[in-house]
This record gives sequence, C-alpha cells and structure tokens, in this order.
Amino acid sequence: MTTQDAVRQAVAAVTDPELRRPIGDLDMVRDIVVDGSTARVSIVLTIVGCPAAARIESDVRAAAASVPGIEEAVVEVGVMTPGERKALTEKLRDGRPARQMPFGPDSLTRVILVSSGKGGVGKSTMTANLAVALAEQGLSVGLVDADVHGFSIPGLLGIPAGTQPTRIDDLMLPPVAYGVKTISIGMFLRDGEAVVAWRGPMLHRTVQQFLTDVFFGDLDILLIDMPPGTGDIAISIGQILPHAEVLVVTTPQAAAAEVAIRSGLVARQTGQKVIGVVENMAALTLPDGTSIDLFGSGGGAAVAEALSADAPVELLASIPLSPALRTGGDSGVPVVIGEPSDAAAAAIHDLARTLSGRGRGLAGRSLPMRVG
Ligand SMILES: Nc1ncnc2c1ncn2[C@@H]1O[C@H](COP(=O)(O)OP(=O)(O)OP(=O)(O)O)[C@@H](O)[C@H]1O
Ligand SMILES: [Mg+2]
Repeated sequence: MTTQDAVRQAVAAVTDPELRRPIGDLDMVRDIVVDGSTARVSIVLTIVGCPAAARIESDVRAAAASVPGIEEAVVEVGVMTPGERKALTEKLRDGRPARQMPFGPDSLTRVILVSSGKGGVGKSTMTANLAVALAEQGLSVGLVDADVHGFSIPGLLGIPAGTQPTRIDDLMLPPVAYGVKTISIGMFLRDGEAVVAWRGPMLHRTVQQFLTDVFFGDLDILLIDMPPGTGDIAISIGQILPHAEVLVVTTPQAAAAEVAIRSGLVARQTGQKVIGVVENMAALTLPDGTSIDLFGSGGGAAVAEALSADAPVELLASIPLSPALRTGGDSGVPVVIGEPSDAAAAAIHDLARTLSGRGRGLAGRSLPMRVG
C-alpha cells in the first residue's frame, strides 16, 4: 500500500460524532496528497458551522499523522454541495422515505416507555442512567424526553443549555451524550420560553415530530422519558407507538402503588405491554450496615403483582436511595459513569443487563435485542 492509500484508509475510518459512521462511508473524504512527510487531506462536512467540525478536523489530522512516514498533516475543510448533501441524506435514510415514523411495528428497535403514576419518583433519573448503562454495553441507544412541560433529560446528561440538533436539510441529528442520542423539547425552546399553554393537539404533533423528523439511525433501543401520570402525552404516545413496552417506576410507598398500577393499566389499554416494574428510592444502607427505608417497602412488588393479572409482570429492580445518584443528576454526570460502584449505579447496570438480555443467570427470560 502506498503512503497515500494508508492515509486515505486511516482518514476514512474517522467517525463523525453525530452521524456515528466513518467519514469514508459518508463520502466526506476528498483529495489526499502526500508530499514528503506531509499529508494534505481535504474533507467536506455537511453544513457550514457544523458543531462537530472541530472534532472531525482534529481527528482527521491525528489519523493522518499516525501513518508511518507522515510527520505533518494539513487538513482542509470544505462543505458539501446541496447535491452531495441530498445524496448523503438519502444514504442515511437507507431507502426509507422521509416523513415516515421509523419506529412502527416492523422496526427492529425496541421502544421502552419509562412511566409512573406519580411525579417525582425518579423516572427521568432512571431513564437517563439506564440509557447510558445500555450504551456502555455497546447498544445503540436513543432517548426521547417526552416530558414537554418538565423536561429534565438534557440537564441529567450534561447537555449544555442552548444545544440544538444539527440540521442537514430536513434531517435533524440528535445531540449525543455519553453515547446516547438524545432529543428533548428543551432543545427547541428559547431562554425562559415555556410550553404551559400547549394543549393536546400541539403536544401530539410535537411528539410525532420528534419520532419522525429526528434522525436516530438504526437503534437497538429507544427509551422515552414520560411525563408523570396518564395525560395527553401518554395517550398520544399510546396511539403513535401501540407496540411499545412500558417500564413502570414507583417508590416503595404503598400510597404510590395505586397510581402506578393505574398508569400500567392505561398503557395496556392502548395495546402496550408492561415489561416490568422498577422500584426506586428503596432502603438506603448506611456505612455502619444499618438501613433506613425512608419511603417504606413493598411498593414495587405490590405494583408488579397487581399488574400480573393477565401475564406475569416482574419487579425487575429495586434501586436504593443514593446521594450519588442525585448529585450525578445535578451535575450532569450520570452516576452509572461517574460512580459505577455506588449501590444505585450497580443496580441500574444490573437492570440494563436484564433488559438487554445480558443479565447474569437470567438466560430463561432474556429479551432478545439486535446489536448493531
Ligand atoms: N434513588 C434515588 N436516590 C436519591 N435521589 C433520587 C433517587 N431517584 C431520584 N432521585 C432524585 O429525586 C428527584 C426526582 O427525580 P426525577 O426528576 O428523576 O423524577 P421524575 O419521576 O422524572 O419526576 P417528574 O415526574 O417531575 O418528571 C431528583 O432530584 C432526583 O435526583
Ligand atoms: Mg421527569
């Protein structure tokens, strides 16, 4: 192989951090000229001011410079023509027509809604950490923050305020945080703007648009962080994604169980399948070995049992109260990454393995998932 070919091969393997594909596949590599120990590489990006530009440029420079015989790499960055961009978006859609919701019944992506009856039980914290834990296992994971009135996912994943999806013509690319492709209504609002006045039809359209126009690519799993309760959004999602699976989050408190059961039953009425219950804020073990169950105990098991009338629904996990889980959320560094040895983090990693069918000793009830 000539040095020029070696440089081309190294450069082509650099991945676009947003599209998550090698730039060679994306037809972004142009001329490569080797002059002594200097490589001159020209690449084209999708749009002017592409947020990933600096990263791609430095990765390309490093890749070229890593080739034996090359000491200096000069990278020239250009922009695709409208025609090239069109060819790229068609390639990315892989034959799927635009404006078609890709998560229909034929899709290979598992869609899991994380819901609860009561607010504040830790749905969003759970969804964010679970998504990151699944991505860490190597799955391709998307996350939709469907809590349009109380979106919190961007903060939990440390996505800076003001971050917006990149647009390539009519494709919207979700920002990627800890390997999770993430989209939230918060990314579409101007500072301080609120959506309190939005009513059913507008919310329905927003959710539909998230699921249709945002380009997630081939996902193994799409998690949806639901707003609390069984309001307009839950009903819309029930209509848009009737084959989705539902994970019901509840606290150990008996009083919380009843509303959690109701949310599970409502999901089932739309045809969705409740795949399990997650109990959050369970007993906290103190350093001296004693434990405090601030919110009582037994709520998760009670909800699982009540939802088991037709088909068995298991209590999949009991996540303890954890200061590290909360501070991780506040700082935007999910505890499953920031402090994986924390008891809550470990329990969420276990839950992720159970869901992906990679749990230890859970072979009998593994849920198959495509690995991309
Ligand atoms: N296991 C836990 N230990 C300690 N704090 C927790 C735990 N789970 C969640 N929290 C904290 O509880 C609060 C509520 O969590 P979160 O926002 O995830 O709940 P939610 O169900 O999404 O709420 P909402 O219904 O408002 O969307 C947050 O401050 C979070 O950090
Ligand atoms: Mg929430």
